[in-house]
Amino acid sequence: EKGGYEHFMLKEIHEQPRSIKDCFRGRLNVDEGWVKLGGIKDYESKLAKAKRIIMVACGTSWHAALVGEYLFEDLARIPVEVEYASEFRYRNPIIDEDDIVIAISQSGETADTLAALNLAKSKGATILGICNVVGSSISRITHAGSYTHAGPEIGVASTKAFTAQVTVLTLMALSIARKKGNLDDTKFRRIITELELIPDKVAKILEQSEKHEEISAVYKDARNALYLGRGNSFPVALEGALKLKEISYIHAEGYPAAEMKHGPIALIDEEMPVFVIATKGPSYEKVVSNIQEVKARKGKIIAVITEGDTQVKAIADHYIEIPDTDENLAPLLATIPLQLISYYVAVMRGANVDQPRNLAKSVTVE
Ligand code: F6R
Repeated sequence: EKGGYEHFMLKEIHEQPRSIKDCFRGRLNVDEGWVKLGGIKDYESKLAKAKRIIMVACGTSWHAALVGEYLFEDLARIPVEVEYASEFRYRNPIIDEDDIVIAISQSGETADTLAALNLAKSKGATILGICNVVGSSISRITHAGSYTHAGPEIGVASTKAFTAQVTVLTLMALSIARKKGNLDDTKFRRIITELELIPDKVAKILEQSEKHEEISAVYKDARNALYLGRGNSFPVALEGALKLKEISYIHAEGYPAAEMKHGPIALIDEEMPVFVIATKGPSYEKVVSNIQEVKARKGKIIAVITEGDTQVKAIADHYIEIPDTDENLAPLLATIPLQLISYYVAVMRGANVDQPRNLAKSVTVE
């Protein structure tokens, strides 16, 4: 049932070209130039008119929400607040009938996320869900929603559910943006054309398993690791750090690259691996400076770069090349190398990758 893979996690990482495709199948037509999410059709006008949207989630799903924030703000121009479900529900949050609360949950059973939604519903908000498990509690209490269609995720560490969540959020942001009329035809076409190419590009990254194993072998005994990114790569950095800590038990932290000099830079020495998402995009030059700051303090740089990059390649200790894509879609690709490295590091350390200590696949207690 692991389809020839040693662990469910590796199988699920490798399923991503297909799970991402399954997620946008029937929801995207590049030739005819449209995207649609049938499940939330009745709420499209309300979404298009929304003054703000609140997203609630936990763990990896919360990281997907942070990517969603960038997408909704850049494409649909709607302010988004991303909340940990556990914080939202205990804060007497200000919400009313005009609000739209979107919950993101692989299992659809996470206790805090479910409770946060019930609270928002009781205050009159419209509540929507992005779940993977069909018929789950969250999908049953929401007014409407869109499934991620990633298929069953068995490994405790979430991988293909995350990229499917980001894919649904992309489709949602695109369809609201079109409805609002604030995304011009050329940009819209460019993004959907690129979105359709994502599964093949993910497959191309997955082919480089040797490169990922090589890097993992160098850093498998690290005691700490930092993950840095800017813009929509910042949530990718957070997700990379979470993946490493939960399955390999190495302490890791994700930071916005520019925040490094406000504290974490003190940690950097020759023992510290620093993973940096340094793909081509609006903050590329700034990230290059952040890399130079780490190198100046003898930190080790493992960079995720865009194919054809020369500048970062020249200064990084290690690099993984990923295909170029639209900047809004970059998290779907940049996440993959970090998943793979976490996986290989954990295997090399002899950890139980699919069943990490102290963790459960679905957290139904608060
Ligand atoms: C991390 C992980 C957890 C979950 C979190 C939320 O790999 O799996 O952080 O993302 O417990 O779970 P769901 O998405 O089921 O609500």
